[in-house]
Amino acid sequence: MISIKSEREINLMKQAGHINYLAHQYIEKFIVPGVTTLELDKKINEFVRRHGGICSCFGFEGFPRYTCISVNDEVVHGIPSKRKLKQGDIVKVDFTVRKDGYESDMTKTYFVGKVDDNIKKFVLDTEKSLYEGLKVIKEGAKIGDIGNAICTFAQKHGYGVVEELCGHGIGTNMHEDPEVPNYGEKGAGKTLKAGMTLAIEPMLTYGENGVYMKDNDWTIATDDRSYSAHFEHTVVVTKTGYELLTGE
Ligand code: MF3
Ligand code: CO
Ligand code: CO
Repeated sequence: MISIKSEREINLMKQAGHINYLAHQYIEKFIVPGVTTLELDKKINEFVRRHGGICSCFGFEGFPRYTCISVNDEVVHGIPSKRKLKQGDIVKVDFTVRKDGYESDMTKTYFVGKVDDNIKKFVLDTEKSLYEGLKVIKEGAKIGDIGNAICTFAQKHGYGVVEELCGHGIGTNMHEDPEVPNYGEKGAGKTLKAGMTLAIEPMLTYGENGVYMKDNDWTIATDDRSYSAHFEHTVVVTKTGYELLTGE
């Protein structure tokens, strides 16, 4: 069942999402060579707390940290650790913020120092693919339209689309109906209605799109060790388009 949120609920999600957005802005300056992913995790949690939110990844299905921080070939669910970031790394910072019972979900891929130009373009293209997906959202559009837009753009540029992981509905729970794959057919799937709230999150690969689960039973990484990039926003569907909830 896909729930339709009231004006009041959308406002609460916007508050949660705004803290998420601010925490992303705040953390960027700390993403430099030598910092550990655990230090970033701690700083984000402290920031979110100070702003009245909770990093709800902590304890979710037993997840042991406040944020997911995935480096280079890691696609998602990297566990913050004593791993030091190095010049040239790309790092995906993904976390949910809960406030007054409502969730938001946002991811950005950051550069550590100077990054290879081709990888840089790949990361910027992944962000563009998120907006390609968002652009087709409005009441009456189909779930498949979103994935089709993302996948068409990604493949045009020669990137892989990870198929094992999807976007999702979001609200009082981090993950709600529907699943939002990053591939699909135009016109296929459920119909979007104003008031649905969705987390859209393309995960692209610079090489092949196959992935495996690391030994920690959380982190997903590319089979061919190629770099992966990930961007995510939480949005509400409107009559004419969408509104960002994880924004200013
Ligand atoms: N934020 C992730 C998503 O985009 C979910 C993380 S769940 C966790 O759906 F347990 F790993 F934190
Ligand atoms: Co997320
Ligand atoms: Co998500």
